[in-house]
Amino acid sequence: MKEERGQWGSRMGFILAAIGSAVGLGNIWRFPYTASSNGGGAFLIPYLFALLTAGIPILILEFAIAHKIKKSAPGVFGKVKKGLQSLGWVQTFISISIMVYYTVIIGWSINFALFSFGAKWGEDTKGFFFGDFLHLTDGPFNIGPINTGMLIALIAVWGINYLVLMGGVKAGIEKANKIFMPLLILCLVIVAIRGITLPGAAQGLDYFFKPDFSKLSDPTVWLAAYGQIFYSLSICFGIMITYASYLPEKTDIVNNAFMTGFGNCSFSILAGMTVFSVLGYMAAQQGVAVSEVSAGGIGLAFVVFPKAINALPGMNGVFGAIFFLCLIFAGLSSSMSIMEVVVSSINDKYNTSRKKTLTVMTIIGFVISLIFVTGAGLYILDIVDHFVNTYAIAVAGLIEIVALSYLVNLDELRGYANGMSDFSVGKWWIFTLKYLTPIMLAIMFAFNTYIDFTKGYEGYPTKALMVYGVGTLVFIVLGALVFTNIKGEDSYEKLISEGVDL
Ligand code: ALA
Repeated sequence: MKEERGQWGSRMGFILAAIGSAVGLGNIWRFPYTASSNGGGAFLIPYLFALLTAGIPILILEFAIAHKIKKSAPGVFGKVKKGLQSLGWVQTFISISIMVYYTVIIGWSINFALFSFGAKWGEDTKGFFFGDFLHLTDGPFNIGPINTGMLIALIAVWGINYLVLMGGVKAGIEKANKIFMPLLILCLVIVAIRGITLPGAAQGLDYFFKPDFSKLSDPTVWLAAYGQIFYSLSICFGIMITYASYLPEKTDIVNNAFMTGFGNCSFSILAGMTVFSVLGYMAAQQGVAVSEVSAGGIGLAFVVFPKAINALPGMNGVFGAIFFLCLIFAGLSSSMSIMEVVVSSINDKYNTSRKKTLTVMTIIGFVISLIFVTGAGLYILDIVDHFVNTYAIAVAGLIEIVALSYLVNLDELRGYANGMSDFSVGKWWIFTLKYLTPIMLAIMFAFNTYIDFTKGYEGYPTKALMVYGVGTLVFIVLGALVFTNIKGEDSYEKLISEGVDL
């Protein structure tokens, strides 16, 4: 018996889930620092440009094509052109590669939410995070033992994802987002109000927003903006295609895409304001400049923020826990969308039961993610994250946009999307997809490859980059080839061979 394909129960349910997927760890720790180190307020110009010329156009493209074909990524691309099914599997394997470390960062956040009470991290938050907590070894090949606290949290994260996804699209994912998203907004608003009303917050906000227009002539700032948009909007790695394939016949495409894009970006800006107002307060307490207390990436949330929490005038534990709850809710609503890509791609092709696919893939994913809770976990995570974002998503995105723009009649697809939407998208949409976005993606890929080849990445030994970074890319390609070539159910193969009338 064929299992019914899932469907969203309401428009609100879909929008919440799409924003829930977009708003993730990338918004809370990645965006604030990326913005401040790339021109502060001036970064918002390339960021909004990338949102309007790449982010939202790709969202409309993915929503429309997935609504038309009603399959996850391998089915959608396979139906557009048979040979392209493998691109869908590449995106599915990108999702697996992200899921296995993403869950680990959510696990850290769970630990840190608990550590908040009584400020278990002490005064030396850096030493605590890298030493006492991660037990970081001296190199990526010195694996070290598995960390018990992190392991328990990791089991909890995979467990929650498993239970939510088991409920299916409407009773599982939609329901979970209806709980997580309001909680996330509530928690962020609480920390934002606390942050913005602290003495010194204005200096932090000034640092975050003060435009350094000279940075706009630096191409890396524009590339950083595009990179942030792709990761943050969950585009080009199968997620939005999977989610939109569950839309009912009568729906909206264009407005949904705008709401998802703007919802995600507003959230990023609020998160940035929150983080920097707290840092402004901390800098004022220490009598130093804000630039001296801010740090990038993972360090911002797990090293600098705990320090800032220590400095709060009162209720430190509560505000600390609420901040880490933001990361947990944002992370969980994204991780379930990443995992759904995997389950949906396999179910569509092989008509396996949701329960079986989910159970097997959860066990496999969990076992792989164990490598990230060892003493070398942070190094490996950093390398895998870099290679997946810089190469896998950029190349898969480039092929997706070029293939869909030139194999599908975009004007017809535009008519299809406009025909069911609150408002219409103009011809500019086609221009961005055919020319602007592919050119930007190609430059991004070439530039980043050049930097990696000439400067390496973060001083890691080449062997580590080859084993963990290139190894992940090989895993993605081989996995995609295997699943492309294992024959699917007859009706699926037939559907793919029929092509699409666009
Ligand atoms: N879009 C998700 C994030 O920003 C993956 O974390």
